[in-house]
Amino acid sequence: MTTLTVKAGPPLLGTIAVPGDKSITHRAIILAALAEGTGTIRDYCRGEDCLNTMRALQSLGIKIEETSEMLRVHGKGLWGLTESGDVIDCGNSGTGIRLLAGLLAGQDFFTVLTGDASIRRRPMGRIVKPLREMGATIAGRKGGELAPLAVTGGKLRGITYSSPVASAQVKSSLLLAALFAQGTTTIMEPRLSRDHTERMCRFFGVPLRHDGTTIIMEGRPSVGWAAAPVLRIPGDLSAAAFFIVGASIVPGSDLLLTGIGVNPTRSGILDILRRMGADIQLLRQREEAGEPVADIRVKAAPLRGVTIGPDSIPQTIDEFPILFVAAALAEGETVITGAEELRVKESDRIATMAAELRQMGARIIERPDGVVIQGLGRPAENGCFAAARGRSHGDHRVAMSLAIAGLTADAETTIDDTACIETSFPDFSGRLAALRTGSR
Ligand code: S3P
Repeated sequence: MTTLTVKAGPPLLGTIAVPGDKSITHRAIILAALAEGTGTIRDYCRGEDCLNTMRALQSLGIKIEETSEMLRVHGKGLWGLTESGDVIDCGNSGTGIRLLAGLLAGQDFFTVLTGDASIRRRPMGRIVKPLREMGATIAGRKGGELAPLAVTGGKLRGITYSSPVASAQVKSSLLLAALFAQGTTTIMEPRLSRDHTERMCRFFGVPLRHDGTTIIMEGRPSVGWAAAPVLRIPGDLSAAAFFIVGASIVPGSDLLLTGIGVNPTRSGILDILRRMGADIQLLRQREEAGEPVADIRVKAAPLRGVTIGPDSIPQTIDEFPILFVAAALAEGETVITGAEELRVKESDRIATMAAELRQMGARIIERPDGVVIQGLGRPAENGCFAAARGRSHGDHRVAMSLAIAGLTADAETTIDDTACIETSFPDFSGRLAALRTGSR
């Protein structure tokens, strides 16, 4: 079993780039495969989740050349995919399986999608139901609620669908199906989830209309590379978040994170940390491949508790594990409500984070849809958390959050079962170590 050991000590200093954005990488690979002609995706996320999506497209007949810096994708146009001779394994990736299900719903062939034990526990009915309404035939365990999913695609028709959850995976799955559908597809969601699919569609020349939280797409567009067939993926804010919180809580830290995606549908963590008193500046704001990007400078600062309500959940959804760490150390109370979606992520993140941080002395009360955290409010020099042996529960973000918590523990912290970090952030521990020596 892989473990990770950290101990309190030096501040986080220097300049760092993080892996390319995982969400955007999935979408870039899929749309590049559907585009006419060949193009390059630079600085992509080499986490296992995205590599599984890349392998899926390869098994659907798309040639993709791979180096550590770039993917060269030989797109075959909207109707160019061919049946895979094998089951497609999406590993740990909810985005992978849900987006591919939407894509495959529009193909005139049969595919089986599966994933690891965590994926096979996660809810699939939220995409299966509307994809069936569009005309796809999908079978799965528990009537299609659970993977493996067997998808027989075919002639889809556009639908109007109001999703009960604000989920970019649901929205994106349906938008990918909508590309192949006859007529118009209209998708409504209760709150705006991340809009990377919409931005990526525009990058590839696919028109979309947007009205608040409603998106309208006409089926069967032409998909092509923009003038220059190169797409650069911004750094992943969800990966950067571990270092942003780390630098905030370890006294004396001063960190520059370069080229990070700061899309407002993703950047809730920055707003919340600033409300908590964090010292965060956005520098060199710019745009790449239709996505806002900035360098982020963060210095250590005392944090205070805040109230986080349902309106802030979608744009912060993956950062709650690391926000729990910040809140557990802050002065005062943090209350989070409307976050029940955290219970159906790679692990039940309310339960796993509450259990793990409690072991380290944090004061956390679980609620069905969130937590109440009484911050320890102690100066970090004295050690804030009590060192404990932690467990990832197979969840990459839990593993990395506990590692950051360990930076302020009173003795060495070991986290068990950390191989899952590979799904999104290969070399997380190496980069963390480099920052603590101030090297680049
Ligand atoms: C993602 C959307 C979010 C997020 C996940 C990635 C995406 O899930 O939690 O890690 O790439 O679309 P939901 O859309 O289901 O909330």
